[in-house]
Order: sequence, then C-alpha cells, then structure tokens
Amino acid sequence: MLAAVLAVTSDEPGGPGVLELRHVSEPRPRADEVIVDVVAAGVNRADLLQRQGHYSPPAGASPYLGLECSGRISAVGADVARWKVGDEVCALLTGGGYASRVAVPQRQLMPVPAGVSLVDAAALPEVTCTVWSNLVMVAGLSEGETVLVHGGGSGIGTMAIQIATLVGARSLVTCGSRRKAEACLALGAEVAVNYREEEWAEAVSSATGGDGVNVVLDVVGAKYLDANLRALTADGRLVVIGLQGGRKAELDLGRLLARRLTVHGTTLRSRSPREKGEIADEVVANVWPAVAEGRVRPVIDRVLPWSEVAEAHRVLERGDNIGKVLLHVGTGEGES
Ligand SMILES: NC(=O)c1ccc[n+]([C@@H]2O[C@H](COP(=O)([O-])OP(=O)(O)OC[C@H]3O[C@@H](n4cnc5c(N)ncnc54)[C@H](OP(=O)(O)O)[C@@H]3O)[C@@H](O)[C@H]2O)c1
Repeated sequence: MLAAVLAVTSDEPGGPGVLELRHVSEPRPRADEVIVDVVAAGVNRADLLQRQGHYSPPAGASPYLGLECSGRISAVGADVARWKVGDEVCALLTGGGYASRVAVPQRQLMPVPAGVSLVDAAALPEVTCTVWSNLVMVAGLSEGETVLVHGGGSGIGTMAIQIATLVGARSLVTCGSRRKAEACLALGAEVAVNYREEEWAEAVSSATGGDGVNVVLDVVGAKYLDANLRALTADGRLVVIGLQGGRKAELDLGRLLARRLTVHGTTLRSRSPREKGEIADEVVANVWPAVAEGRVRPVIDRVLPWSEVAEAHRVLERGDNIGKVLLHVGTGEGES
C-alpha cells in the first residue's frame, strides 16, 4: 500500500512558524506527467515570499511550496515515453516540492548527473536552469566576456560564477560579508566586493580598466538600476531576476541609447512547461557533463530534515547561507 502523502502547509500567510507538516491528497499524474516520490527539496527565496502571501502560485500550480526536488519516479502518465518507474531524477517545479509526492510535467525532469547523490541533486534544477537561461540564452554571455553577479554567495550566485567559468567568461561578484567573498573567490570569481565595506561600482570600474562589464546578473532591482547601467560597457546586457531592492525606479533611456544597452527581466516559474523543458534540455546537454567532470558542483550550505522547515526559512532570511539550503523529505509519518 502507498504511504500517505505529506506536505508542508500553512493556514495563513506569516512567519516561518506558520509552516506545518500535514496529510494532503494524493497527486494524480496527467497524461504527460510523472509522480516523483520526493527525497529532497531545494529552499528558494521565492518560497519565503510565497509563505508570506506575497507570491501566489501561477494558475494550475500546486498550492504547496517548493520549486525543485529530487527523488524517484513512482508512476507515469499515459503519454510519458522518456521516463519509467524507478528512475532517479531531479525536477524543476511550478510548486509542490515540499511534499512527499509531487506530479511533474515530463519535460521538467532531468536525470541526476553522474557523481551527484540523489539528495544533493535537489540543489541543481533551479540554479542551473535560472543561471543558464539568463546568462547564456537571454544575455548571450560568451567566451572572453565579463559578467557582474550581485549576491555571489547565494544559491544563484554560486552557480553563476561556475557557469561563467564554464563558458570562458570572467566573473566579478558583490557580497555582504568577507566570508561570502572568500567563498566566491574560491569558486572562481576574479573579484569579490563586500558591498558593505566598499563601493562596488568603483571596484568594478577599476577591475575592468574603466571599460565596464558585458553582462550584469542582478537580484536587487530598483536600488541598483542606474548603477548597473553605468557598470555596463557598450552593447552590455542587464538581466534583472530579483527585486530585493524594490521594483520601481527611473530608467535613464539616454544611457541605453548611447551605449546600445539592453535590459531584460525574467522569472523561471512563470514560463510554460515547454519553455522550462527547452531550458532543462540545454542544461542537461551543456552543464551536466561539466558536473560529471567535477568542473561545476552544487554548492550546498546545509541539508535539514523537513521537520525543520521553519529553521531552513530562517537561515535564508538571515542571509546565513552560502549556496543552497535543502530539506530532506520523509515519505511517511514519524519520518523526518
Ligand atoms: N527570476 C527568476 O527566475 C529567479 C529564479 C531563482 C532565483 N531568483 C532570485 O535570485 C535571488 C537569489 O535567490 P536564492 O534562492 O539563491 O537566494 P539566497 O541564497 O537567499 O540569496 C539571496 C542573496 O541576495 C543577496 N543580496 C541581497 N541584497 C543585496 C545587495 N544589495 N547587493 C548584493 N547582494 C544582495 C544576498 O547577499 P548578501 O547576504 O551577501 O547580502 C543573498 O546572497 C533572489 O532574489 C531570488 O528571488 C530569481
């Protein structure tokens, strides 16, 4: 008999303390979906916003938190040809990763890369797909170019440094502590600026001989908009993927015209299963071989049992983490 399905739920929006493990109904796969018995789930900053009631799941998505997971396939829909029961996978989700079982469109599944444990694989889907899609597919970062990554010590930042190196680009990063700056340098960043102690814009200018960078990957938004545009060289591309510093700012179009700059804004979650699948295919083709060779690795700050989900959210809220925080998901009552 199948074990009962558990999920992290809450009765109302609020702080980490509202999160509770409860029995929920069994997910049913549509024809093009599989059911994954979840082993681990990644914690993302978006989950904190959703818990607080500031980020509603898109229409049709699971109401539960969780944008990525790893686990084993336990059932497949009628149209699923690429995957079978028992396959070990990791997956990009539109929601529902904080549960013992989740339905996933087949195109959003990826195999676990060689050399990575099933638990650690949960650290990969969101950061590899976000970074590859934005740095390479949207911004066209290429060999010999330079990228500025804000929040270099985050889950996203630690992967952006490694993917920049993979495509032959230099990375400069900003971080809020010396400990994070050292970790970024060890991962391959050429320059790591502690923005609490130093003016990052000056440091970026001097590191590029006054030329500026080709691409900025930004998680701050409004507060950094003007400085980010100033930091770009001619034909530079700014990609905004987070709004931690606000969403509304004045855009000086003169800067765009004079140096032919481009501003992009994207979210992975709102993309269709087809688009997510195209990104996942590129990641498996281009990043998985480098993971297998040890040139790219998941950077994992800690793995907590899912009974400690509130503490996992507090770690991200305090900004204590370097890289990813994972939840080890149990499959039945009494497990953690
Ligand atoms: N659009 C998308 O599709 C997408 C997908 C995934 C993630 N994201 C976004 O990417 C960001 C990172 O996500 P995550 O899950 O990896 O979260 P995380 O590990 O909690 O990282 C958040 C990071 O933001 C940094 N930060 C905050 N204010 C900053 C500032 N003024 N200057 C530089 N860095 C600053 C923090 O760095 P310090 O602690 O060093 O200050 C921290 O490392 C979040 O904003 C998230 O919403 C977007």
